[in-house]
Amino acid sequence: MNKYPMEPFKIKSIEHIKITTKEERIAALKEAKYNLFNLPADMVMIDLLTDSGTGAMSDEQWASIMTGDESYANSKSFFNLTDIVNKVFKYKYFLPVHQGRAAESILSNIMIKKGSLIPSNNHFDTTAANILVREGSPINLVQEIDVDNSFKGNIDINIFDDFLNKNNDKVPFCMVTITNNAGGGQPVSLDNIEKIYTTCKKYNKMLFIDACRFAENAWFIKQREITYKNWTMMEIINKIFSFSDGATFSAKKDAIVNIGGLLLMNDENLFKKATNELIIREGFPSYGGLSGRDINAMATGLLEGCSETYLTYRIGQIQFIHDKLVEANIPIISPPGGHAIYIDAGKILSHIPPKNFPAQAFSLECYIEGGIRSVEIGSIMLSFISPETKKIVYPKLELVRFALPRRTYTHSHLLYVIDTIINVSKRAKEIKGIKIIEAPELLRHFSASYDWIN
Ligand code: F0G
Repeated sequence: MNKYPMEPFKIKSIEHIKITTKEERIAALKEAKYNLFNLPADMVMIDLLTDSGTGAMSDEQWASIMTGDESYANSKSFFNLTDIVNKVFKYKYFLPVHQGRAAESILSNIMIKKGSLIPSNNHFDTTAANILVREGSPINLVQEIDVDNSFKGNIDINIFDDFLNKNNDKVPFCMVTITNNAGGGQPVSLDNIEKIYTTCKKYNKMLFIDACRFAENAWFIKQREITYKNWTMMEIINKIFSFSDGATFSAKKDAIVNIGGLLLMNDENLFKKATNELIIREGFPSYGGLSGRDINAMATGLLEGCSETYLTYRIGQIQFIHDKLVEANIPIISPPGGHAIYIDAGKILSHIPPKNFPAQAFSLECYIEGGIRSVEIGSIMLSFISPETKKIVYPKLELVRFALPRRTYTHSHLLYVIDTIINVSKRAKEIKGIKIIEAPELLRHFSASYDWIN
């Protein structure tokens, strides 16, 4: 088989891209106050801001949209989804929700109180925010010593065990994020998931999986964990979820829909509480804030997202961008994860100190150069003022994430992205730093305004 497989689909319907000039992009960026979130989407030629809700649905998913049943209660779409959810996740109960953070919010409402500690490998920012607003603390225990390069999303089991031992009364449940988005989209091994689960059981804790990219994670397990080499994707997926008590799921990722999510669990009492929360916030339990057609498209997408042929192509796209950038000596997180590449802008723009945001500068330059939208994961998003020292604590790395929507961009789009990143890197020395003009205290990357430093 080719190292980088071809797209296992052909194009039936297309969306036009407005081709802009450098001058137009410079003007648009000024207008957007140098914040890529403020750009009108049609001024972006290749949008790699996120892989969430931005995938292309198949003709079969569009057909499912047409056959969606819009009955308020117990629609045909809901039973269709139930059949497929039971094949993939195999938990006793589930609720549809409008997206991942809605599932997180319901779970947090029924489980977390002031002072609760929730350990995970790395919590995604919405999960962390949902814990923090209930005055709990998200705890990140991703392996940092003796890191397994094939599974850089693994939890350090010794530290995890020790943590539960010391904080037993404060932990209502544990989590693990697969793949580990906040840690570079890196996978977690089945061996690690099993050990996390066994450790949870030792301390009588429930384990919830943040399952946003479970299928991509399962593909890595098949490739890299020898025991599962000859297993089918569905066998691996079922095995993953068998080592847990529930899951939160944003269908906007691996179920390749524009909106949708699930909250899944085995515990009956917890499910009753979750159902009450859902009815207050999202809707009746058979539609949970979604239309019948959304539910039908999610059901079809769930199975398509588990296809090994599709996943081999999908993760191959990420590997291809990664390999070409490595060949060009661009510093990048290696090996790449399943949904994005992360460029080490701190290394490329080493003349710009963290206080002048090298990752933001790199990300803006990629927009000017090629109309590509990426996201800064550096000092703008992650630095904070230490409560103890009152000094700014900067993150270890100044990264720029280029997340790839599913089935949306072709091989030539990827070549264009690679060329753009290389061209920006070639003129690294000319690139200036950034200053903040105005920013809110929390989650400032969404709404801050900036300017170049002279
Ligand atoms: N968990 C993980 C690991 C995620 O990556 C996301 C979203 C969520 C939960 C929340 O899901 O957006 O449906 O409410 N990640 C997107 C991203 C936004 O760009 O990485 P949601």
